[in-house]
Amino acid sequence: MAENDQNALAGNVPAKPKPAAPGAAKPAAPGAAKPAAPGAAKPAAPGAAKPAAPAAAKPAASQGGVYKPPVDRPDSNPYKDSRVSALGAWFQERFYVVLPVLDYLKKKEVPQHRLSFWYYFGGLTLFFFIIQIVTGLLLMQYYKPTEAEAFASFVFIQKEVPFGWLLRQIHAWSANLMVLMAFIHMFSTFFMKSYRKPRELMWVSGFVLLVLCLGFGFTGYLLPWNELAFFATQVGTEVPKVAPGGAFLVGILRGGEEVSGETLTRMFSLHVVLLPGILMLVLSAHLMLVQVLGTSAPIGYKEAGLIKGYEKFFPTFLAKDAIGWIIGFGLLVYLASVFPWGIGVKANALTPAPLGIKPEWYFWAQFQLLKDLKFEGGELVAIALLTVGAIVWALVPFIDTKASKEERSPIFTILGLLVLAFLLLNTYRVYAEYGW
Ligand code: HEM
Repeated sequence: MAENDQNALAGNVPAKPKPAAPGAAKPAAPGAAKPAAPGAAKPAAPGAAKPAAPAAAKPAASQGGVYKPPVDRPDSNPYKDSRVSALGAWFQERFYVVLPVLDYLKKKEVPQHRLSFWYYFGGLTLFFFIIQIVTGLLLMQYYKPTEAEAFASFVFIQKEVPFGWLLRQIHAWSANLMVLMAFIHMFSTFFMKSYRKPRELMWVSGFVLLVLCLGFGFTGYLLPWNELAFFATQVGTEVPKVAPGGAFLVGILRGGEEVSGETLTRMFSLHVVLLPGILMLVLSAHLMLVQVLGTSAPIGYKEAGLIKGYEKFFPTFLAKDAIGWIIGFGLLVYLASVFPWGIGVKANALTPAPLGIKPEWYFWAQFQLLKDLKFEGGELVAIALLTVGAIVWALVPFIDTKASKEERSPIFTILGLLVLAFLLLNTYRVYAEYGW
């Protein structure tokens, strides 16, 4: 088997398709694929020695931490002799170049070890995002993003539309679970050092996804146009004003000096058009990298014999993912029915802000820091600290050079623990002071 084919399957470089010779049999679509010859890619039995495929024989260190499944592909285009219709042949000719990728998807394997459980949280985040898209589209059929009608349309959805209450509650709970899953997924990949070479861009794209998820939460909060949402947005959009250029940004976001109907329109368009559009693009890149680079194992696990075996991504891992999704859906329906979110009272800019205004729980840690630095210029210090912290966090794969050399990097584990402790402790402090 050609070396570049092996590499493509192993997730390195896509193999160059061989140009079809004039008159040669047309390549066939993946659907027409003959089943791989028995024994072509035997999954390694737990603890069994790997087959001595050329690439698999390379020392682990030279593979830069990329897990390479023991793939044996006898032909770069195993479908070329299959019979299909003229239309099928037309598509085959055009899609021939993606065959190695499709082939790879089928061969991708996920390492099994004692931390494998954490691999499910990326998929769960994805699941809750899909729920958001579906329920969000349905809610949009009734929601009216204007100062005069927003609150009334919310009450209408909640009280009049058949199952509207369920849709709205699922949307609200799924938003929270999506952010929670994204945080768990981020910290688990952090502690497993999955960000190390060559997965740096998976981490960076993931970080952008988290920021976008938080943006969804922030922009969605105002949409019910109730008192709590109104004043929380008022307070939240006040903060960046102390930073240089912040007032300009706040002006754009609010669409004026104060939070108003103009702000509602802007938040709505961000929430349903701009953020989903950007998120879809970044998510596509993130998921493509997941497929092409494969799933990483923690540093040193392979060498220490801690990998119990490998399971096929399709269908085994995906089926297990689906079990997680079913449990997630059950949890959603339970939470939506038993712990419904309230509607509140309609926002009125002329009334004084109610006591105890606070943002959504995923901003509590930052909110507490702002409260802690209540001296002259403290807000600016807090913003600077949070911004620098976020930049360092986003660039961790490039700073932790030890992990990229497959060496342990305890300093970064400690950094992760400190960040986690900061988030949990400050979140708890806000909870202790304000309640849920
Ligand atoms: C909308 C949010 C996100 C979605 C839908 C998502 C989805 C996924 C999925 C399905 C996987 C493969 C399975 C797994 O390892 O869990 C994955 C892997 C990964 N994600 Fe995310 N992710 C999101 C956010 C993040 C964030 C916030 C980070 C970190 C800042 C991140 C970093 C990674 C990394 C490094 C991997 C590779 C794991 C490995 O190879 O072991 N992702 N993501």
